[in-house]
Amino acid sequence: MRKTVYWIEGDGVGPEIWRAARPVIDAALSGESDIKLEWLELLAGEKAQAATGSPLPEETLRTLAQAGTAMKGPLGTPVGGGIRSLNVTLRQTLDLYACIRPIRYFQGIESPVKHPECVNMVIFRENTEDVYAGIEYAAATPECRKLIAFLREEMGVAISDEAAIGLKPMTESASKRLVRRALRYAVDNELPSLTLVHKGNIMKFTEGAFRQWGYDVAAREFADAACTEKAPVPGRVIVKDRIADAMFQEVLLRPEQYHVIASPNLNGDYLSDALAAQVGGLGLAPGVNMSDSLAFFEATHGTAPSIAGQDKANPGSVILCGALMLEHLGVPKAAERIRAAVAKAISAKTVTEDLAAQIPGAKTVGCAAFGEIVGANL
Ligand code: NAI
Repeated sequence: MRKTVYWIEGDGVGPEIWRAARPVIDAALSGESDIKLEWLELLAGEKAQAATGSPLPEETLRTLAQAGTAMKGPLGTPVGGGIRSLNVTLRQTLDLYACIRPIRYFQGIESPVKHPECVNMVIFRENTEDVYAGIEYAAATPECRKLIAFLREEMGVAISDEAAIGLKPMTESASKRLVRRALRYAVDNELPSLTLVHKGNIMKFTEGAFRQWGYDVAAREFADAACTEKAPVPGRVIVKDRIADAMFQEVLLRPEQYHVIASPNLNGDYLSDALAAQVGGLGLAPGVNMSDSLAFFEATHGTAPSIAGQDKANPGSVILCGALMLEHLGVPKAAERIRAAVAKAISAKTVTEDLAAQIPGAKTVGCAAFGEIVGANL
């Protein structure tokens, strides 16, 4: 069976990490299933700019809007006033509302904590709302003054003339679809718990509402599969909630008690990077942004311009994106083979220079050689 995967090479280290990663993803499938990947390239970034005069051609957006599975390397944000980040444009145009990051530890990597192996979580971060909506007014501008006057006069709010203002819109529908997807994942993968992470003690009607909407989804839509912490039922996913600041302590002190996290945009952003650091850095982290129709896998690092074209980049994030994608396509055994092959390369201490810097006694190899080693470990 053929599965079409649209791919975007990306800028900077994009071409070299793809060259190293794609053969690993294809090889993981052979012997494991009758699925064959059909890779179709779409243009974006510098390559698209050179070929079409636009960094994000209409054709690419049109194809992605109809696609089921896609994967991308890093895209640089073009330098110059008024140009939006291509990543943000892709997320908003395609309504990629759930940013999903699995975080796990690979044995051998130096970590700042004593037991990084206790971290094994999947973060579902809402991707479209919250303070990321981009509704902001600079201090002392006519727009800001107008808003301050309205808030004072019409709403009776005490607010300084000096204030800059940003808005934090959060809706029931966007919060619920995020929690629904996270809970479906926890149930399908038979994971013990889902934690709603919010700052509802302070922001009652946005973050507090997120918490309540999350519990509503669990009670109304997963009545047979979920339960609460107060009334646990064996075999069901426990839905609990934690206030964001306490959660940062929890993931350091008791990470084994957390499995799936569902969070509004800003908390999820902070927590994803903090957890990645806890297990030894961002370099290996895969991610996926999802709409209801498209799963768009992406290397979570940027274009790493200072090492681009030097065969130094770590292709691990794209390789592990491949594992996530194969899981999504229904071939979990092939995904597990990839993860085991990466783990073996790391424990053999033959790694790219970014990882070598975190593994005492490691030998440094280039991007292409690391891909070959992982491929041979499959
Ligand atoms: P970056 O992730 O490119 O680099 C941060 C540090 O990590 C650098 O020291 C870099 O050399 C290293 N690094 C990153 N990827 C690596 C890899 N695969 N192997 C080894 N080392 C690696 O972040 P930075 O410098 O802030 O951004 C550079 C460009 O990338 C910008 O134009 C930014 O907009 C874009 N970017 C794109 C992202 C995406 O497409 N998802 C995400 C983050 C940044």
